[in-house]
Amino acid sequence: MKNFDYSIKTEVYFGKGKIKSLGRILQRYGEKVLLVYGGGSIKKVGLYEKVKSILEENNIECIELGGVDPNPRIESVREGVKLVHENSIDMILPVGGGSTIDCAKAISGASFYDGDPWEIVKNPSKIEKALPIISILTLSATGSEMDPFAVISNMDTNEKLGLGNEILRPVASILDPEYTYSVPKNQTAAGTADIMSHVFEVYFSKTKDAYLQDRMAEGVLKTCIKYGEIAYNEPENYEARANLMWASSLAINGLLSCGKEGTAWSVHPIEHELSAFYDITHGVGLAILTPNWMKFVLNEDTLEKFYEFGVNVWDIDKSLDKKEVANLAIEKTRNYFKKLGIPGKLREIGIGDEKFEIMAEKAVKVGGLKYGYRALNKDDVISIFKASL
Ligand code: NZQ
Ligand code: ZN
Repeated sequence: MKNFDYSIKTEVYFGKGKIKSLGRILQRYGEKVLLVYGGGSIKKVGLYEKVKSILEENNIECIELGGVDPNPRIESVREGVKLVHENSIDMILPVGGGSTIDCAKAISGASFYDGDPWEIVKNPSKIEKALPIISILTLSATGSEMDPFAVISNMDTNEKLGLGNEILRPVASILDPEYTYSVPKNQTAAGTADIMSHVFEVYFSKTKDAYLQDRMAEGVLKTCIKYGEIAYNEPENYEARANLMWASSLAINGLLSCGKEGTAWSVHPIEHELSAFYDITHGVGLAILTPNWMKFVLNEDTLEKFYEFGVNVWDIDKSLDKKEVANLAIEKTRNYFKKLGIPGKLREIGIGDEKFEIMAEKAVKVGGLKYGYRALNKDDVISIFKASL
């Protein structure tokens, strides 16, 4: 295990009715809040009204930024920064999924930056100060509720970039699984695939001796496999929604990558190109690419890890030939996503081979794929795209 520092500033308020803590939390940070939300799901489920009444009861002035798109756009960030400046906002309250929380994070960092917000997306080390983020999560997927990252899209230039800076991590997150009861089946499936992918990105690591982290990672994966399917079939199953919600936070808050070599992620940078050019749902792109990436990186060096994955996560008979176990594990992963109703091929979501060259080139350049679990070049990425077609 490598040396590491670990510290998480996010306070977690987990469970039914935890919104009762909201007023007390906000009062610690000021009197004026920017409420950020998406296309209206929070209004349909009554959460918007609830939040507004808590703000009123606590004498907190509220300015709103609604309409944040899935794959949040830089335009929303610019609009949010303007509202922060015009209204002397003290803190930001995103209520929604990862897109809403990511947009809030970018606004929070860009509010103290003199130039255009896109510049801090491209170079997050320019963020020196940020407004506190208090998030209320409504979709278990990205882990944005407890991580320091945000992903922002610029559709004019077909760029979807991730930015990370420790000061963007929410200071508090309210995680009430009941708020995810209304998440549609396709988003429940995509969210589960996203959580699993966050684990894969660090589980398949060059570091071979982080035993504890790997067993925790397997626990999170098994949780997704068990409860993703239950939540998909029974949207109001509390235990399923609760387990997925906590898995979402633990997958990417740094716990599973402690003590591991800083290997670059592989499937995420490739998926981000699909979203940047075709505006698809992140988790769907990941689910299509993942089994094909796994097939591509399976070789003599990685066999042991895939064997471990097959035996510990998919309960495959450990006495079988290692290669057979590895291939079975990859097929089980593919079949699991299929069971969740996720399309298995890029063509099924309207993506052909026209942009493979440019997307592969950008993924390698922006995503640092040569530093991944197995180094990937442009041709490798094109092969993965072709296998996913
Ligand atoms: O916009 P509204 O009306 O709220 O509807 C949303 C949206 O249409 C809906 N939804 C959310 N909660 C709901 C609900 N519908 C009914 N009931 C609820 N309770 O679901 C749709 C998708 O929402 P979105 O926030 O886009 O989904 P998700 O949480 O998967 O976020 C995806 C974005 O996060 C980025 C992705 O690339 C993508 O841009 N990521 C962020 C990461 C991070 N911050 O660390 C890491 C991830 O790897 C990922 O890249
Ligand atoms: Zn993701």
